[in-house]
Amino acid sequence: MFGFLKNKRKSLIGLDIGSNVIKILRLDLTGDRPMVTHFAMSDLPPEAIVDGEIMDRELVIQAIQECADKADIPNEPVASAVAGRAVIVKKIVMDQMSEDDAREAIYWEAEQHVPFDIDDITLDFEILKEDIGADQMELLLVAAKKDMILAQADLIRDAGFQPLVIDVASFANQNSWEFANQQGGALPGVDVEDAEETETSAGPDLDEFLEEEAEDTGAHESDIQEEADGEFVALLDVGGGVTNVHIVKDGVPYFTRDLPIGVVQFSEEFQKQLGLTYESAQMVAQGHTEDVDEQLVIDIVRSVGAEIYQGLEPSLSYLKTSGEADGIDRIVLSGGGAHLPGLSGYLADAYNIPSDISDPLSVLDYDPDLFAESNAEELSPLLSVAVGLALREGVKS
Ligand SMILES: Nc1ncnc2c1ncn2[C@@H]1O[C@H](COP(=O)(O)OP(=O)(O)OP(=O)(O)O)[C@@H](O)[C@H]1O
Ligand SMILES: [Mg+2]
Repeated sequence: MFGFLKNKRKSLIGLDIGSNVIKILRLDLTGDRPMVTHFAMSDLPPEAIVDGEIMDRELVIQAIQECADKADIPNEPVASAVAGRAVIVKKIVMDQMSEDDAREAIYWEAEQHVPFDIDDITLDFEILKEDIGADQMELLLVAAKKDMILAQADLIRDAGFQPLVIDVASFANQNSWEFANQQGGALPGVDVEDAEETETSAGPDLDEFLEEEAEDTGAHESDIQEEADGEFVALLDVGGGVTNVHIVKDGVPYFTRDLPIGVVQFSEEFQKQLGLTYESAQMVAQGHTEDVDEQLVIDIVRSVGAEIYQGLEPSLSYLKTSGEADGIDRIVLSGGGAHLPGLSGYLADAYNIPSDISDPLSVLDYDPDLFAESNAEELSPLLSVAVGLALREGVKS
Protein backbone atom coordinates (compact mmCIF):
# COMPACT_ATOMS: atom_id res chain seq x y z
CA MET A 1 0.00 0.00 0.00
CA PHE A 2 2.78 2.38 0.80
CA GLY A 3 4.54 1.88 -2.46
CA PHE A 4 6.82 4.87 -2.45
CA LEU A 5 8.60 3.49 -5.46
CA LYS A 6 5.65 1.67 -6.95
CA ASN A 7 2.02 2.78 -7.42
CA LYS A 8 3.15 6.32 -7.95
CA ARG A 9 0.44 8.79 -7.17
CA LYS A 10 -0.19 11.58 -9.61
CA SER A 11 -0.87 14.06 -6.84
CA LEU A 12 -1.01 14.28 -3.10
CA ILE A 13 -2.31 16.77 -0.55
CA GLY A 14 -0.05 17.61 2.41
CA LEU A 15 -1.88 18.87 5.50
CA ASP A 16 0.30 20.26 8.28
CA ILE A 17 -1.76 20.89 11.40
CA GLY A 18 0.63 23.24 13.21
CA SER A 19 -0.29 24.51 16.66
CA ASN A 20 -0.42 28.09 15.32
CA VAL A 21 -0.94 27.79 11.59
CA ILE A 22 -2.58 25.08 9.49
CA LYS A 23 -1.08 24.66 6.03
CA ILE A 24 -2.63 22.74 3.15
CA LEU A 25 -0.86 22.21 -0.13
CA ARG A 26 -1.46 19.96 -3.12
CA LEU A 27 1.34 18.79 -5.36
CA ASP A 28 0.95 17.58 -8.91
CA LEU A 29 3.58 14.87 -9.19
CA THR A 30 3.34 14.07 -12.89
CA GLY A 31 5.96 16.47 -14.24
CA ASP A 32 9.72 16.54 -13.88
CA ARG A 33 9.38 18.87 -10.95
CA PRO A 34 6.47 18.60 -8.54
CA MET A 35 4.07 21.49 -8.96
CA VAL A 36 2.06 23.22 -6.26
CA THR A 37 -1.49 23.42 -7.60
CA HIS A 38 -3.36 24.51 -4.46
CA PHE A 39 -2.29 26.21 -1.26
CA ALA A 40 -3.71 27.97 1.78
CA MET A 41 -2.90 28.67 5.43
CA SER A 42 -5.23 29.36 8.35
CA ASP A 43 -4.39 30.59 11.82
CA LEU A 44 -5.46 28.47 14.74
CA PRO A 45 -6.59 30.11 17.97
CA PRO A 46 -3.92 29.48 20.65
CA GLU A 47 -6.27 27.43 22.81
CA ALA A 48 -6.98 24.86 20.07
CA ILE A 49 -3.66 22.97 20.33
CA VAL A 50 -1.59 23.33 23.48
CA ASP A 51 1.75 21.58 23.92
CA GLY A 52 1.03 19.54 20.81
CA GLU A 53 -2.21 18.15 22.27
CA ILE A 54 -5.48 18.93 20.54
CA MET A 55 -7.58 20.66 23.21
CA ASP A 56 -10.47 21.83 21.06
CA ARG A 57 -11.19 19.34 18.33
CA GLU A 58 -14.05 21.33 16.80
CA LEU A 59 -11.88 24.42 16.41
CA VAL A 60 -9.20 22.39 14.65
CA ILE A 61 -11.73 20.74 12.33
CA GLN A 62 -13.23 24.15 11.49
CA ALA A 63 -9.79 25.60 10.77
CA ILE A 64 -8.91 22.67 8.48
CA GLN A 65 -12.18 23.14 6.59
CA GLU A 66 -11.65 26.89 6.35
CA CYS A 67 -8.14 26.32 5.06
CA ALA A 68 -9.31 23.72 2.53
CA ASP A 69 -12.07 26.06 1.33
CA LYS A 70 -9.61 28.91 0.89
CA ALA A 71 -7.34 26.66 -1.13
CA ASP A 72 -10.34 25.30 -3.06
CA ILE A 73 -8.66 21.97 -2.71
CA PRO A 74 -10.18 18.87 -4.38
CA ASN A 75 -11.42 16.10 -2.16
CA GLU A 76 -8.47 13.76 -2.55
CA PRO A 77 -6.48 11.64 -0.08
CA VAL A 78 -4.42 13.56 2.43
CA ALA A 79 -1.01 12.99 4.01
CA SER A 80 -0.69 14.52 7.44
CA ALA A 81 1.50 14.19 10.51
CA VAL A 82 1.52 13.94 14.26
CA ALA A 83 3.98 16.00 16.29
CA GLY A 84 7.37 14.75 17.34
CA ARG A 85 6.34 13.82 20.84
CA ALA A 86 4.31 10.92 19.49
CA VAL A 87 7.48 9.25 18.36
CA ILE A 88 10.69 8.02 19.90
CA VAL A 89 13.79 7.51 17.83
CA LYS A 90 16.58 5.67 19.57
CA LYS A 91 19.68 3.75 18.68
CA ILE A 92 19.88 0.40 20.39
CA VAL A 93 22.28 -2.52 20.51
CA MET A 94 21.06 -6.09 20.08
CA ASP A 95 22.49 -9.55 19.57
CA GLN A 96 23.38 -10.13 15.93
CA MET A 97 20.57 -11.81 14.00
CA SER A 98 18.83 -11.73 10.64
CA GLU A 99 16.46 -8.88 9.87
CA ASP A 100 13.50 -11.27 10.01
CA ASP A 101 14.47 -12.51 13.44
CA ALA A 102 15.06 -8.96 14.56
CA ARG A 103 11.45 -8.14 13.61
CA GLU A 104 10.31 -10.65 16.21
CA ALA A 105 12.88 -9.74 18.83
CA ILE A 106 12.47 -6.00 18.52
CA TYR A 107 9.30 -5.98 20.62
CA TRP A 108 11.12 -7.55 23.56
CA GLU A 109 14.01 -5.18 23.13
CA ALA A 110 11.79 -2.15 22.76
CA GLU A 111 10.22 -2.72 26.15
CA GLN A 112 13.45 -1.66 27.78
CA HIS A 113 13.79 1.46 25.68
CA VAL A 114 10.35 2.94 25.26
CA PRO A 115 8.37 4.41 28.15
CA PHE A 116 5.02 3.27 26.73
CA ASP A 117 3.13 0.02 26.91
CA ILE A 118 4.35 -2.10 24.04
CA ASP A 119 0.75 -2.82 22.96
CA ASP A 120 0.17 0.90 22.49
CA ILE A 121 2.95 1.54 20.02
CA THR A 122 3.89 0.72 16.49
CA LEU A 123 7.53 -0.11 15.86
CA ASP A 124 9.93 0.13 13.01
CA PHE A 125 13.67 -0.26 12.86
CA GLU A 126 16.64 -0.14 10.60
CA ILE A 127 19.90 -2.04 11.07
CA LEU A 128 22.61 0.61 11.12
CA LYS A 129 25.66 -1.55 11.72
CA GLU A 130 25.53 -5.31 11.30
CA ASP A 131 28.64 -6.00 13.35
CA ILE A 132 29.87 -3.82 16.17
CA GLY A 133 31.87 -6.63 17.79
CA ALA A 134 30.98 -9.12 20.55
CA ASP A 135 28.25 -10.56 18.28
CA GLN A 136 26.25 -7.39 18.60
CA MET A 137 24.59 -5.14 16.04
CA GLU A 138 23.30 -1.60 16.14
CA LEU A 139 19.77 -0.62 15.18
CA LEU A 140 17.70 2.48 14.93
CA LEU A 141 14.41 1.98 16.71
CA VAL A 142 11.39 4.11 15.80
CA ALA A 143 8.35 3.82 18.06
CA ALA A 144 5.14 5.78 17.51
CA LYS A 145 2.05 5.91 19.70
CA LYS A 146 -0.83 4.22 17.95
CA ASP A 147 -3.60 6.17 19.67
CA MET A 148 -2.26 9.53 18.49
CA ILE A 149 -2.02 8.26 14.94
CA LEU A 150 -5.53 6.86 14.94
CA ALA A 151 -6.95 10.00 16.61
CA GLN A 152 -5.35 12.12 13.92
CA ALA A 153 -6.89 9.94 11.22
CA ASP A 154 -10.34 10.39 12.81
CA LEU A 155 -9.85 14.14 12.95
CA ILE A 156 -9.03 14.35 9.26
CA ARG A 157 -11.97 12.19 8.39
CA ASP A 158 -14.25 14.39 10.46
CA ALA A 159 -12.91 17.38 8.54
CA GLY A 160 -14.17 15.67 5.39
CA PHE A 161 -10.96 14.19 3.99
CA GLN A 162 -9.62 10.73 3.51
CA PRO A 163 -6.38 10.25 5.46
CA LEU A 164 -3.93 8.28 3.36
CA VAL A 165 -0.75 8.57 5.38
CA ILE A 166 -0.13 9.75 8.93
CA ASP A 167 3.51 10.61 9.23
CA VAL A 168 5.60 12.22 11.96
CA ALA A 169 6.15 15.94 11.41
CA SER A 170 9.91 15.80 11.97
CA PHE A 171 10.25 12.97 9.43
CA ALA A 172 8.19 14.94 6.91
CA ASN A 173 10.50 17.89 7.48
CA GLN A 174 13.47 15.63 6.86
CA ASN A 175 11.82 14.31 3.71
CA SER A 176 11.33 17.81 2.39
CA TRP A 177 14.92 18.82 3.14
CA GLU A 178 16.29 15.67 1.52
CA PHE A 179 14.19 16.21 -1.55
CA ALA A 180 15.46 19.75 -1.80
CA ASN A 181 18.95 18.27 -1.80
CA GLN A 182 18.03 16.03 -4.72
CA GLN A 183 18.07 13.09 -2.41
CA GLY A 184 14.55 11.87 -2.89
CA GLY A 185 14.79 9.76 0.30
CA ALA A 186 11.72 8.92 2.32
CA LEU A 187 11.12 7.63 5.78
CA PRO A 188 8.35 5.44 7.05
CA GLY A 189 4.93 6.96 7.34
CA VAL A 190 2.03 5.09 8.85
CA ASP A 191 -0.68 3.88 6.54
CA VAL A 192 -4.03 4.67 8.03
CA GLU A 193 -6.15 2.02 6.39
CA ASP A 194 -3.79 -0.68 7.52
CA ALA A 195 -3.60 0.84 10.99
CA GLU A 196 -7.31 0.60 11.35
CA GLU A 197 -7.51 -2.90 10.04
CA THR A 198 -5.10 -3.97 12.71
CA GLU A 199 -7.13 -2.24 15.34
CA THR A 200 -10.38 -3.88 14.41
CA SER A 201 -9.24 -7.25 13.17
CA ALA A 202 -6.51 -8.02 15.70
CA GLY A 203 -4.60 -9.08 12.64
CA PRO A 204 -0.99 -8.31 11.89
CA ASP A 205 0.41 -5.43 13.85
CA LEU A 206 1.26 -1.98 12.60
CA ASP A 207 4.90 -2.82 12.32
CA GLU A 208 4.10 -5.15 9.45
CA PHE A 209 3.18 -2.37 7.11
CA LEU A 210 5.93 -0.21 8.52
CA GLU A 211 8.17 -3.06 7.48
CA GLU A 212 6.77 -2.85 4.01
CA GLU A 213 7.49 0.82 3.93
CA ALA A 214 11.00 0.28 5.20
CA GLU A 215 11.53 -2.21 2.40
CA ASP A 216 10.03 0.06 -0.19
CA THR A 217 12.19 2.91 0.90
CA GLY A 218 15.17 0.78 1.78
CA ALA A 219 16.78 1.98 -1.39
CA HIS A 220 17.27 5.41 0.05
CA GLU A 221 20.48 4.64 1.82
CA SER A 222 22.39 3.47 -1.21
CA ASP A 223 20.64 5.28 -4.04
CA ILE A 224 20.63 8.75 -2.66
CA GLN A 225 23.15 11.18 -4.00
CA GLU A 226 23.68 13.23 -0.93
CA GLU A 227 24.96 16.71 -0.92
CA ALA A 228 25.38 16.62 2.83
CA ASP A 229 27.05 13.21 2.60
CA GLY A 230 28.29 12.00 5.97
CA GLU A 231 27.30 15.21 7.71
CA PHE A 232 25.37 15.38 10.94
CA VAL A 233 22.62 17.82 10.11
CA ALA A 234 20.44 19.41 12.81
CA LEU A 235 17.06 20.21 11.30
CA LEU A 236 15.55 22.82 13.60
CA ASP A 237 11.88 23.50 13.01
CA VAL A 238 11.15 26.65 14.99
CA GLY A 239 7.37 26.54 15.16
CA GLY A 240 4.76 28.52 17.06
CA GLY A 241 5.52 27.25 20.55
CA VAL A 242 8.18 24.58 20.15
CA THR A 243 11.37 23.91 18.28
CA ASN A 244 11.70 20.40 16.96
CA VAL A 245 15.30 19.23 16.83
CA HIS A 246 15.79 16.39 14.37
CA ILE A 247 19.34 15.22 13.84
CA VAL A 248 20.07 13.18 10.73
CA LYS A 249 23.01 11.72 8.95
CA ASP A 250 22.89 10.03 5.55
CA GLY A 251 19.10 9.84 5.63
CA VAL A 252 18.99 8.22 9.09
CA PRO A 253 17.46 10.14 11.99
CA TYR A 254 19.62 9.94 15.12
CA PHE A 255 17.12 11.54 17.41
CA THR A 256 14.19 13.85 17.48
CA ARG A 257 13.25 16.08 20.39
CA ASP A 258 11.06 19.10 21.10
CA LEU A 259 12.38 22.16 22.93
CA PRO A 260 9.80 24.45 24.56
CA ILE A 261 10.88 27.57 22.66
CA GLY A 262 9.07 28.86 19.61
CA VAL A 263 8.17 32.09 17.84
CA VAL A 264 5.83 32.99 20.71
CA GLN A 265 8.73 33.31 23.16
CA PHE A 266 10.61 35.62 20.80
CA SER A 267 7.50 37.70 20.03
CA GLU A 268 6.75 38.19 23.72
CA GLU A 269 10.21 39.61 24.26
CA PHE A 270 9.81 41.92 21.24
CA GLN A 271 6.55 43.20 22.71
CA LYS A 272 8.08 43.71 26.16
CA GLN A 273 11.45 45.15 25.26
CA LEU A 274 10.47 47.16 22.19
CA GLY A 275 7.02 48.22 23.43
CA LEU A 276 5.31 46.72 20.38
CA THR A 277 1.78 45.51 19.79
CA TYR A 278 1.26 41.80 19.20
CA GLU A 279 0.87 42.41 15.46
CA SER A 280 4.04 44.52 15.18
CA ALA A 281 5.99 41.93 17.16
CA GLN A 282 4.77 39.28 14.70
CA MET A 283 6.05 41.38 11.82
CA VAL A 284 9.45 41.65 13.48
CA ALA A 285 9.46 37.88 14.01
CA GLN A 286 8.89 37.50 10.28
CA GLY A 287 12.01 39.51 9.57
CA HIS A 288 10.57 43.04 9.16
CA THR A 289 12.80 45.29 11.24
CA GLU A 290 12.41 48.51 9.23
CA ASP A 291 10.57 50.40 11.99
CA VAL A 292 12.43 49.15 15.03
CA ASP A 293 15.87 49.21 16.61
CA GLU A 294 17.43 46.38 14.62
CA GLN A 295 20.38 45.90 16.95
CA LEU A 296 18.06 45.47 19.92
CA VAL A 297 16.03 42.91 17.94
CA ILE A 298 19.17 40.95 17.17
CA ASP A 299 20.20 41.08 20.84
CA ILE A 300 16.80 39.77 21.90
CA VAL A 301 16.98 36.99 19.31
CA ARG A 302 20.40 36.04 20.63
CA SER A 303 19.28 35.90 24.23
CA VAL A 304 16.12 33.84 23.51
CA GLY A 305 18.01 31.84 20.87
CA ALA A 306 20.53 30.91 23.55
CA GLU A 307 17.80 28.72 25.03
CA ILE A 308 17.69 26.77 21.79
CA TYR A 309 21.48 26.50 21.91
CA GLN A 310 21.37 25.26 25.50
CA GLY A 311 18.47 22.94 24.75
CA LEU A 312 20.51 21.35 21.98
CA GLU A 313 23.42 20.61 24.28
CA PRO A 314 22.14 17.34 25.81
CA SER A 315 21.50 15.95 22.31
CA LEU A 316 24.96 16.92 21.17
CA SER A 317 26.63 15.54 24.31
CA TYR A 318 24.86 12.29 23.58
CA LEU A 319 26.31 12.27 20.07
CA LYS A 320 29.75 12.89 21.52
CA THR A 321 29.66 10.45 24.41
CA SER A 322 28.26 7.70 22.22
CA GLY A 323 31.26 8.26 19.98
CA GLU A 324 29.09 9.08 16.98
CA ALA A 325 30.44 12.49 16.17
CA ASP A 326 32.24 15.48 17.54
CA GLY A 327 29.14 17.54 16.96
CA ILE A 328 26.85 18.73 14.23
CA ASP A 329 28.12 19.85 10.84
CA ARG A 330 25.18 21.89 9.60
CA ILE A 331 22.00 23.54 10.81
CA VAL A 332 18.88 23.87 8.69
CA LEU A 333 16.16 26.15 10.04
CA SER A 334 12.52 25.74 9.09
CA GLY A 335 9.16 26.81 10.48
CA GLY A 336 7.84 30.26 11.23
CA GLY A 337 10.93 31.11 13.27
CA ALA A 338 13.39 30.56 10.44
CA HIS A 339 13.34 34.24 9.51
CA LEU A 340 13.75 35.56 13.05
CA PRO A 341 16.28 38.36 12.52
CA GLY A 342 19.76 37.08 13.26
CA LEU A 343 18.76 33.62 14.48
CA SER A 344 20.43 31.70 11.67
CA GLY A 345 23.61 33.79 12.04
CA TYR A 346 23.63 33.40 15.80
CA LEU A 347 23.43 29.59 15.59
CA ALA A 348 26.04 29.48 12.84
CA ASP A 349 28.40 31.52 15.04
CA ALA A 350 27.62 29.57 18.18
CA TYR A 351 28.51 26.26 16.54
CA ASN A 352 30.89 27.61 13.93
CA ILE A 353 29.09 25.68 11.20
CA PRO A 354 26.91 26.66 8.24
CA SER A 355 23.28 27.43 8.99
CA ASP A 356 20.77 27.37 6.13
CA ILE A 357 17.13 28.33 5.91
CA SER A 358 15.00 25.62 4.36
CA ASP A 359 13.46 26.58 1.06
CA PRO A 360 11.25 23.73 -0.15
CA LEU A 361 9.50 25.95 -2.72
CA SER A 362 12.80 26.44 -4.53
CA VAL A 363 12.60 22.93 -5.96
CA LEU A 364 8.91 23.06 -6.86
CA ASP A 365 7.03 24.70 -9.70
CA TYR A 366 4.14 27.00 -8.82
CA ASP A 367 2.09 29.86 -10.10
CA PRO A 368 3.27 32.88 -8.04
CA ASP A 369 -0.36 34.03 -7.80
CA LEU A 370 -0.96 31.10 -5.45
CA PHE A 371 1.03 32.96 -2.83
CA ALA A 372 -0.20 36.39 -3.90
CA GLU A 373 -1.18 37.44 -0.41
CA SER A 374 2.26 36.70 0.98
CA ASN A 375 5.78 36.50 -0.27
CA ALA A 376 6.58 32.93 -1.39
CA GLU A 377 10.18 33.26 -0.29
CA GLU A 378 9.14 34.26 3.23
CA LEU A 379 6.58 31.50 3.42
CA SER A 380 8.84 28.76 2.11
CA PRO A 381 10.38 27.61 5.44
CA LEU A 382 6.90 27.39 6.98
CA LEU A 383 5.96 24.89 4.30
CA SER A 384 8.69 22.33 4.93
CA VAL A 385 6.44 19.85 6.72
CA ALA A 386 3.49 20.27 4.32
CA VAL A 387 5.78 19.81 1.31
CA GLY A 388 7.50 16.80 2.90
CA LEU A 389 4.07 15.24 3.38
CA ALA A 390 2.82 15.94 -0.13
CA LEU A 391 6.04 14.42 -1.49
CA ARG A 392 5.49 11.24 0.49
CA GLU A 393 4.36 9.17 -2.42
CA GLY A 394 4.67 9.19 -6.10
CA VAL A 395 7.80 11.21 -6.60
CA LYS A 396 10.37 9.93 -9.03
CA SER A 397 13.55 9.57 -7.06
N1 LIG B 1 4.70 34.32 6.68
C1 LIG B 1 4.21 33.99 7.88
N2 LIG B 1 2.90 33.74 8.04
C2 LIG B 1 2.39 33.42 9.24
N3 LIG B 1 3.13 33.28 10.36
C3 LIG B 1 4.45 33.50 10.26
C4 LIG B 1 5.04 33.85 9.02
N4 LIG B 1 6.36 33.98 9.24
C5 LIG B 1 6.57 33.75 10.53
N5 LIG B 1 5.44 33.46 11.16
C6 LIG B 1 5.36 33.16 12.59
O1 LIG B 1 5.50 31.78 12.70
C7 LIG B 1 4.50 31.23 13.55
C8 LIG B 1 4.03 29.94 12.98
O2 LIG B 1 5.14 29.12 12.66
P1 LIG B 1 4.87 27.65 12.17
O3 LIG B 1 3.87 27.68 11.09
O4 LIG B 1 6.18 27.02 11.93
O5 LIG B 1 4.24 27.08 13.51
P2 LIG B 1 3.28 25.83 13.68
O6 LIG B 1 3.65 24.80 12.68
O7 LIG B 1 1.88 26.29 13.69
O8 LIG B 1 3.68 25.42 15.14
P3 LIG B 1 4.27 24.02 15.69
O9 LIG B 1 5.09 23.43 14.60
O10 LIG B 1 5.06 24.47 16.88
O11 LIG B 1 3.07 23.23 16.04
C9 LIG B 1 3.39 32.23 13.61
O12 LIG B 1 2.83 32.23 14.90
C10 LIG B 1 4.08 33.53 13.29
O13 LIG B 1 4.47 34.16 14.49
MG1 LIG C 1 4.97 23.23 12.60
